[in-house]
Amino acid sequence: MKPLRILTYPEPFLLRETEPLQNIDGAVQEMIDAMAETMYAAPGIGLAASQVGWGKSVLIYDIAPREEGRRLHVLVNPRIVASEGEVLSENEGCLSVPDYRADVKRAERVLVEGFDREGKPVRLEADGFHAIVLQHEIDHLNGVLFIDRISRLKRELYKRKLQKALRESEHAV
Ligand code: NI
Repeated sequence: MKPLRILTYPEPFLLRETEPLQNIDGAVQEMIDAMAETMYAAPGIGLAASQVGWGKSVLIYDIAPREEGRRLHVLVNPRIVASEGEVLSENEGCLSVPDYRADVKRAERVLVEGFDREGKPVRLEADGFHAIVLQHEIDHLNGVLFIDRISRLKRELYKRKLQKALRESEHAV
């Protein structure tokens, strides 16, 4: 299976809110498998549907250490129903925001409800890195990128750097 193309900022599709998935059929399962291949190939630890141009509320992640093999988690229509505490997520990055990392304030613990890929209800409590990944991916489904959560000054500096890089690549042969 060929990995899907990962959209990168400033692609407008990334800033759109996704729609809830109504029906988990074979086409959806195939799309989830394609997302997984894309995430592992990148390599990344999380991927939201909107990042591959699919406007549905689906996210996947795998935060297991590599030597333990693949442990794919799929969440359909996830939402954060409760959160508490605050942590600084250091050097957060995103496949859709290449070559950039920044510290982001995140909740320390979250309670997430949604469904798995079979449509069974899921309710999970997460803290630490797990909670950060869930918040990052659920943000994607709401059209929010981590650079929307850093200071305006830092964001402007990043945009300027990106524009310069884009201009330079246009001139490259
Ligand atoms: Ni991301």
